[in-house]
Amino acid sequence: MTRRRSNSNPNATRVRDSVAAALIDQQERHTMKIAVINFSGNVGKSTVAQHLLAPRLDNAAIIPIESINSDGTEAGTLRGSQFDELQDQLMTLENAVVDIGASNVEDFVGLMQSYDGSHKDFDLFIVPTVPAAKQQVDTIATLRALSELGVSASKIRVVLNMVDPKQDIARIFAKLFDFHARTSTFWLDRHAVIYQNPIFEKIKGFDKSIAEIKDDPRDYVALNAQALDTGAPENEKAYIRQMVALKRLASRVTTDLDAVFKVMVP
Ligand SMILES: Nc1ncnc2c1ncn2[C@@H]1O[C@H](COP(=O)(O)OP(=O)(O)O)[C@@H](O)[C@H]1O
Ligand SMILES: [Mg+2]
Repeated sequence: MTRRRSNSNPNATRVRDSVAAALIDQQERHTMKIAVINFSGNVGKSTVAQHLLAPRLDNAAIIPIESINSDGTEAGTLRGSQFDELQDQLMTLENAVVDIGASNVEDFVGLMQSYDGSHKDFDLFIVPTVPAAKQQVDTIATLRALSELGVSASKIRVVLNMVDPKQDIARIFAKLFDFHARTSTFWLDRHAVIYQNPIFEKIKGFDKSIAEIKDDPRDYVALNAQALDTGAPENEKAYIRQMVALKRLASRVTTDLDAVFKVMVP
């Protein structure tokens, strides 16, 4: 008789349900601050920040760390004051993706060293890499630097980018898989892979996100037929054809990126 009392107490039930809801909410909403980092340029840091991470976090701000002054000139070094500002900004945000431009990574790591424990502002360090040999060497240096800062292995996660689907992942990333087998100071999974995909280039000319293109309700195949019938001008027809291709690419890449996010972001 007394066994069931706490369960039937409406207040206790309400508290229990709201705690459960909060836990589920936390898991599903992914409140996270993520740094995207690599000593190498052109590995897809900005692409990963923009198209993989930010769209899958609630209201995530993308904070680019670039040593470019507001007047467009190269500022050279990342100043301590900028790092202070970033730490300050991170404390006001629930979700953020910090995209650390290659020219600033060394300064950034140095500053994380000076401010003891500042790496703890981040829940995850995502390190994109590509098959080219030089980039893999730089990636290994990046992984070493993070680990030396005291970041735990499960918080350092590699995403294998610009992969040719015809190639064997373990072979093209052999340097990285070897390093992982020797050290285990980071997380590496062959399913965390983004294949070469023309959408990332094509989308640059549009001021729309992948999701907006995918969810565009217009039926461009039907519009194309109409345009042919009515003899629409060539530039209009070309735009329609481009949108047919983009929507198809956007739909497919969204499914792929959803799967990568699920594997990579705990
Ligand atoms: N998976 C991919 N497939 C095709 N092109 C890609 C892919 N990832 C990135 N790119 C392209 O490679 C270039 C470098 O990517 P970017 O994100 O700017 O790198 P980073 O920020 O590391 O310098 C960009 O032109 C981008 O569009
Ligand atoms: Mg970039």
